[in-house]
Amino acid sequence: MQFDEIKAMEQQYVMQTYGRSDIALVRGEGATLIDSEGRRYIDMGSGIGVNSLGYGHPQLTQAICEQAQQLMHCSNLYYSEPMVQVARHLVEASGLSRVFFANSGAEANEAMIKTARKYSSDRYGAQRCQILTLKQSFHGRTMTTLMATGQEKFHQYFYPFPQGFSYVTPGDIDEFYEQADAHVCAVILEMIQGEGGVLPLDKAYAQAVCAYCKEHDILVCVDEVQTGIGRTGTLFCYEQYGITPDIVSLAKGLGGGVPIGAILCGAKCADTLQPGQHGSTFGGNLLACRAAQCVLSIVDQPSFLQSVKEKGDRIREQLTAADLSAIRDIRGLGLMLGIGVEKEKRAGYVQKLQEMGVIVLTAGTDTIRLLPPLVITNEEIDQALACMKEVLK
Ligand SMILES: Cc1ncc(COP(=O)(O)O)c(C=O)c1O
Repeated sequence: MQFDEIKAMEQQYVMQTYGRSDIALVRGEGATLIDSEGRRYIDMGSGIGVNSLGYGHPQLTQAICEQAQQLMHCSNLYYSEPMVQVARHLVEASGLSRVFFANSGAEANEAMIKTARKYSSDRYGAQRCQILTLKQSFHGRTMTTLMATGQEKFHQYFYPFPQGFSYVTPGDIDEFYEQADAHVCAVILEMIQGEGGVLPLDKAYAQAVCAYCKEHDILVCVDEVQTGIGRTGTLFCYEQYGITPDIVSLAKGLGGGVPIGAILCGAKCADTLQPGQHGSTFGGNLLACRAAQCVLSIVDQPSFLQSVKEKGDRIREQLTAADLSAIRDIRGLGLMLGIGVEKEKRAGYVQKLQEMGVIVLTAGTDTIRLLPPLVITNEEIDQALACMKEVLK
């Protein structure tokens, strides 16, 4: 189909909840995307941090095809090997204890919230149910994860919302101590706020929050939906903060393009949810878990993770060395980078880059966000950087 036809059908048949760019993507090779008119783009967005192994990755493609031929789904009434392989990998890599499988980031966070509330209710009673999250955070679009999201603009229209969330300012430890009272059962952190603007959490703050939480048996929940699975140069971003969470949520890059979500629970709460207390038809789906098994086997290697760090440094160093007048600052870790620009000019930069064949994302109000496939080559990076230097000069 030609682009105009696809667009017209989208406008007629699809609920208009997204602002889309005027391209239809049909194919990919490595970190390059090709649209319906045959135009090529260096992808610096990975479908918002999803396509960690890029496009047409031979091992991932083969694993998915084999699993599709063998068995795609079998329900959680039965055992399956891909699910236990992924669970074992995540447990051994994190030092946490057990996994629950979901299908998306929001669902993983729902499972995280349910686990934290039940853990606290079991020990301290139903009143100890409050959850602290950070201002500017983003945790999903279900009713509860909208409330976990610390941004007013998401708390509209869909009343009544679930209760039990309060928001604290990242970096303000005194405010945290004040808010973390006897009703609080958990805190949810993004180590780098993604949607909020690629805003890394201060390390000393994160460590102080965790120390306080451990002391008061408040569960430390880390949302690694965007930062996880190698994105920042370590398998989990929290590793770089020297903290040990009680629960970690994952999604996006875990399936390399196949929908999957998961939470990892530490010893405290690994047995909190009992049979019948949570579930999901597709959770632990064979196809998704086979994809995740493949992604983990490739990404969770020291040399691969090192390459993510090096590629991130390459982008940062080149942009810094070019001394571009449009760039205010560069934030982030590994291949999760935010470039601060003037708010009013950002849309123009993004459009111009797309016209030149580079797809980038935005975050917050004044940030260009880069989340390229982790397998992007130095040549592809340099090609994208050449365009960025031109546009942001
Ligand atoms: C940190 C974080 N948590 C949760 C979500 C929600 O994930 P999903 O869209 O898969 O539900 C996102 C999505 O952008 C995210 O960045």
